[in-house]
Amino acid sequence: MEKIAATVSLNHFVSVEDLTNEEVLTLIKRASQFKKGMISPQVREPLYAVNLFFENSTRTHKSFEMAEKKLGIDIIDFEPSTSSIKKGESLYDTVLTMSALGTEIAVIRDSKEAFYTELINSKSIQCSIINGGDGTGQHPSQCLLDLMTIYEEYGHFDGLKIAIIGDLKHSRVAKSNMHMLKRLGAEVLFSGPTEWIDDSFKEYGQYAAVDDVVCEADVIMLLRVQHERHESYNDALIATYLDQYGINELREKKMKPSAIIMHPAPVNRDVELQSSLVECERSRIVTQMSNGVYARMAILEAIIVGRTNRKTPL
Ligand code: CP
Repeated sequence: MEKIAATVSLNHFVSVEDLTNEEVLTLIKRASQFKKGMISPQVREPLYAVNLFFENSTRTHKSFEMAEKKLGIDIIDFEPSTSSIKKGESLYDTVLTMSALGTEIAVIRDSKEAFYTELINSKSIQCSIINGGDGTGQHPSQCLLDLMTIYEEYGHFDGLKIAIIGDLKHSRVAKSNMHMLKRLGAEVLFSGPTEWIDDSFKEYGQYAAVDDVVCEADVIMLLRVQHERHESYNDALIATYLDQYGINELREKKMKPSAIIMHPAPVNRDVELQSSLVECERSRIVTQMSNGVYARMAILEAIIVGRTNRKTPL
């Protein structure tokens, strides 16, 4: 039987900046073990989780749900549209309530950047908080599944050239990934419309035209155009986006033979990526979705270990 990897012990999982490189690598290896069918010995019964999604989601919401079910965690249903949120109850008071009811883990997606700060600093809230995406801030579980996907491909991060292309300014995926990839020794390159990049990206990598990065990158990491975060829909830009900044069949042919295409999805087909390439040989988009379940199992297990090890309340 394969040896169980050392587990990570966490109180919360809200930002990649809180994780050491060693913890990230341990979580990736643990996720790989779950992918191979490993059963977690960590879950005690009963354990309750609630998934509070105040922004739309398919992958993050449902893969956390799948991960919770695979770990034997009981899920408390919560539907924002029929909850007291509709009567004006705040996120804080909703989580306070779920904590008082005995929920131990709250997976939350909200449009407010760093929404989790007041929750993890509360003396009354005893839930462990997992960030399922905070506005344009961070998407730490997406980062872990992306790192897992790259690690499966290359077995390391140092020296890899990773091009993050697209709507950088509005992307929480870009923010989490650029931080961890740089820390793990990868070279990050940026590309896309210049109005969607600012000076805050400079410390993580260089900007270059898409036709330059496409030939040298080991990983092309495309970002969704985040229409919901734009002031208005730019028809002219979207109509020409694929040709100007996206990966079409011509650019795909210029990629290194071993290079892969990633996208957190949902994909705007024929905008960031030509539709015919979504499931092409180089694409790891479906693998990313599958890996999301295992990466989230590793995160949940680390939270359970943290709660089991802790002697005092949060
Ligand atoms: N990648 C991602 O976060 O997808 P969802 O918005 O569907 O969760």
